[in-house]
Amino acid sequence: MTISDLSRQDILDLSRETTLYEWTAQSAMKPLVIDHASGIYFWDVDGKRYMDFNSQLMCVNIGHGDKRVIDAVKAQMDQLCYVAPTVATTAVRAELGRLLKEITPGNLSKAFFTNGGAEANENAIKIARMFTGRNKIIARYRSYHGATAGAMTLTGDPRRWAAEPGIPGVVRAMDPYHYRCRWCGDKPACTMDCLNNIEDVIMFEGPQTIAAVIVESVVGTNGIIIPPDGYMQGLRDLCTKHGILLICDEVMSGFGRTGEWFAVNHWGITPDIMTMAKGLTSAYVPLGATMVTDTIADYFEDHPLYAGLTYNAHAVGCAAAVACINVYKEDHLIENARTLGVVLKSELEQLKERHPSVGDVRAIGLFSLVELVKNRETREPMTPYNPKANEMGPMPQFNAFLREHGLFTFVRWNNFFVNPPLCINEQQLREGLAIIDQALEITDRAVA
Ligand SMILES: Cc1ncc(COP(=O)(O)O)c(C=O)c1O
Repeated sequence: MTISDLSRQDILDLSRETTLYEWTAQSAMKPLVIDHASGIYFWDVDGKRYMDFNSQLMCVNIGHGDKRVIDAVKAQMDQLCYVAPTVATTAVRAELGRLLKEITPGNLSKAFFTNGGAEANENAIKIARMFTGRNKIIARYRSYHGATAGAMTLTGDPRRWAAEPGIPGVVRAMDPYHYRCRWCGDKPACTMDCLNNIEDVIMFEGPQTIAAVIVESVVGTNGIIIPPDGYMQGLRDLCTKHGILLICDEVMSGFGRTGEWFAVNHWGITPDIMTMAKGLTSAYVPLGATMVTDTIADYFEDHPLYAGLTYNAHAVGCAAAVACINVYKEDHLIENARTLGVVLKSELEQLKERHPSVGDVRAIGLFSLVELVKNRETREPMTPYNPKANEMGPMPQFNAFLREHGLFTFVRWNNFFVNPPLCINEQQLREGLAIIDQALEITDRAVA
């Protein structure tokens, strides 16, 4: 029997019997069985077509099945798959380094390559500790930074709990989450008390003990939390004042997702370290990177960089990333995300007007979320924070409606996301939103 002989049921049974699914009790997992994909669509093994409204895990930014990336990967494999990064370099590594230096802001100048986002963050905190000689890292509660030990400890959301106590030295602060902020949620504008909170944490922890502050420039799975203007600039100044490095995790928000190459560009700041993965290769091949400024790079001219991975700067990953970055440029995908981001935001605002279950909508470029509530006045969420299976209310039914109507997106707790591939056009975007419009009638019925 070959792989192509496997029926839908064989695939499900074998996957269940011989593999483990992530972040779930295994019996609760009901996977889609996907066969192939192209552009903003994918098809299951029964030939049913789905619109991919979340770019899978917010990563297939250029869209599925782009021949230019596939051909570049094949050509690289024909030429050379792998060399030991301890002794050798390659043309694709050099070219990717050059491209990343060109597209990242300010004096970010050198990349250390990893297999994905978690390792990019692990290396970011290691580099920050080596460079500053300090130990502590400030992270925020509504965050996800990856599932390895260090990245999981930086993570503030409940995925961290099972891995506690985690690595030493991580201290947490509050986030700029205006809709549910205890300081300014009922005021029209942010009071920046969340930034003041970080300043207090720095004071109480002792600035001389803190190596870095790590933030997702725009928070991803924890709610598309877009910092108010002035926040990122203020955080940059605060870090500079105390000799603390600012690490911006752009694993999800990078590579055009927000309508800029990187989300930090919206606020004109340069972090000391920036991490990336996902859109770097649009998930055609796994690859991540930790980018550092020239100042940090200079330090490692005569201090050993105690960091390494067998697959560091993997030639196939680098080839995918080079081809992918060229696709963003050739197809003007960043511009498309910016232009359609305006349409998306206004359409989501209209959904909010029409549907009482919509409490808040947040969007920047093609990075967006709708937060559902039982009651708009009290803002009581449609599900509690970190709900149990029996506390999901109408959300599973809402998700089932979307799937039934051929739309896939990420539904988490009382939120759903709209993060399509950046190659989507306006008609496709409106078509998907029309399905969501209908599905919201289900959640409207649960409004108290
Ligand atoms: C902001 C952010 N950082 C880090 C990661 C971890 O990346 P990976 O899953 O590639 O390790 C993710 C993954 O979703 C992420 O969203």
